[in-house]
Amino acid sequence: MTIMDMNAHRGADESISDDVREIMERRSRVLGQGYRLFYREPVHLVRGQGAYLWDAAGHQYLDMYNNVPSVGHGHPRVVAAVAEQMATLNTHTRYLHRAVVDYAEDLLGTMPESIDRLMLMCSGSEANDVAIRVARAYTGGEGIVVTSESYHGNTALTSGHSPALGAAQPLDPAARLIAPPDGYRIFDPTRLGAEYAAEMQRVIDAMTADGIRFAGFLADTIFSSDGVFAHPVGLLGPVVDVVHRNGGVVIADEVQPGFARTGVSFWGFGMHGVEPDIVTMGKPMGNGIPISGLAAKAEVLGAYADRMPYFNTFGGNPVSVAAAQAVLDVIRDEDLQRKALVVGAALRSALTDLAKRHELIGDVRGSGQFTGLELVTDRSRRTPAGPLAIEVVEGLRHRGVLTSVAGRDGNILKLRPPLAFAEDDIAWVVDALDAALADVRDGQL
Ligand SMILES: Cc1ncc(COP(=O)(O)O)c(C=O)c1O
Repeated sequence: MTIMDMNAHRGADESISDDVREIMERRSRVLGQGYRLFYREPVHLVRGQGAYLWDAAGHQYLDMYNNVPSVGHGHPRVVAAVAEQMATLNTHTRYLHRAVVDYAEDLLGTMPESIDRLMLMCSGSEANDVAIRVARAYTGGEGIVVTSESYHGNTALTSGHSPALGAAQPLDPAARLIAPPDGYRIFDPTRLGAEYAAEMQRVIDAMTADGIRFAGFLADTIFSSDGVFAHPVGLLGPVVDVVHRNGGVVIADEVQPGFARTGVSFWGFGMHGVEPDIVTMGKPMGNGIPISGLAAKAEVLGAYADRMPYFNTFGGNPVSVAAAQAVLDVIRDEDLQRKALVVGAALRSALTDLAKRHELIGDVRGSGQFTGLELVTDRSRRTPAGPLAIEVVEGLRHRGVLTSVAGRDGNILKLRPPLAFAEDDIAWVVDALDAALADVRDGQL
């Protein structure tokens, strides 16, 4: 089963209200079968503020899932910037607009000096789609390595590089899979960097033996859908060297960890001290306004962009850029990177305490406000507690805490709140988890 299906609404819940049932029925009639809903009793949200959400019946929720409204739902500075720009002008990138250039310079200032070009799109999928084409044009190769449960987008090219979509979606013929750098279950945590680099060389050699020329490694730098793997810091250094030695490029997919979430650095790759060749970003970039980007070394991007004109009707429009600029300003002015570091560490410390009372918790890991809570039925064997993890997610939902599962076995809770999440919110998460885990343990589902 895919991660999307693991997290999807399953079966009917008798407690579904008439209001929710009515929207569900009309929705499935007009939107069709491709869409999924979270939870047995789906949530009908009508309002959000900071890290909180409210449903139509007035119940309050704590958002532990959304890294898109990263600086907080309804942040007043983002709202004001968007409203003002929308009332002034909204066009496309074939006219000059100072704010787009100012933003590009500002954003590139957060990157290593060698990454000095920025293209703007609307979604993470579009950014990764162009990134794969750039990697292929620059290297002359075709083969891209991705991690075994990764998700990189919904276009034809990126779907083919998204094994998380499951068996119904064929992999691109030139794509090859590598395990995530999982120091809990797969690799020796004390030798993770070296073992992972050796594994990459093995995958590249097998690809070459299949007659495919290697083009690069496309990696979510916190391996979110693979189950959240952030440590040890520096682990990506040796694998980046292997990719480069084999003539490939490194594409850091920052759609999940980017924009200060990991606390240690502004970008997920920064934590590992590596310099990618291409960086893609999206989700939190506009706090919910669709904007994404691809940053790259001029030489790498040039192999594609010097030959191919690029136009994207909505990409980089002044309204999206106003949102994105406001997000950058808020991250700096509210010191959100440091807040993510401090509050995220406090959350993990509280969860580690909780693990003393709940055998089901096998591992607590992550960085900043990106936490993976791995549930196991047997600590010594590390047996994944996949079906139980979904029950815990449902139990949390009924206690107002919204989140989902990740990883191959669907046994890793992904805790990834807006950065507005504060130290005072920790008790709500921990108490809800305490009760939901106790229910599962005692069989009172
Ligand atoms: C790591 C990663 N890359 C790319 C994407 C695709 O982004 P979008 O949904 O904006 O197209 C996602 C979406 O979940 C993602 O998690």
